[in-house]
Amino acid sequence: MGLALAPPFISQAERLTALSKKVQGVSEMQLKVNGTVRTLRAEPRVTLLDALREYLDLTGSKKGCDLGQCGACTVLVDGRRINSCLTLAVMNQGKEITTIEGLAKGDELHPMQAAFIKHDGFQCGYCTSGQIMSGVACVNEGHATTDAQTREWMSGNLCRCGAYPNIVAAVREVQQKGGGKA
Ligand code: FES
Ligand code: FES
Repeated sequence: MGLALAPPFISQAERLTALSKKVQGVSEMQLKVNGTVRTLRAEPRVTLLDALREYLDLTGSKKGCDLGQCGACTVLVDGRRINSCLTLAVMNQGKEITTIEGLAKGDELHPMQAAFIKHDGFQCGYCTSGQIMSGVACVNEGHATTDAQTREWMSGNLCRCGAYPNIVAAVREVQQKGGGKA
């Protein structure tokens, strides 16, 4: 390769400056949450969880650990459950985001919400929205056909109150009744 074709030399410092120029500042982004496109202005480093709670006033998704370990922040993105504390809002533009606020149809609760009430699947309630979102996905994935399977596939959602038997009962009831799409 001739010298003229060699890539221009860029020092590490220049590289970092160029990169930081790209990620600095506030940008406008659009998130489709519960069927509605919402516009917000936030730094690119803002997580999806913070965007929902702090910018869009959707405080149903909870911040437990902010580290991907507790599942309290679980939401559905294009039908799949994710820990919203582990993804950036800016990366989720153009996707269908469903939060706990989007499950009920008017006054009619989603079957998973109704089953959690029926089986008393919550105590303090802090983990509950994440558990319900995960339960919905778990059933839709076909991962709730036995109690053992349900426990395994819900194991990313921690409940400090230990409401697990009731949570499993709620998820299994919805599975046995044929699920319930988000
Ligand atoms: S807050 Fe996201 S997993 Fe705990
Ligand atoms: S109901 Fe309290 S943490 Fe689960």
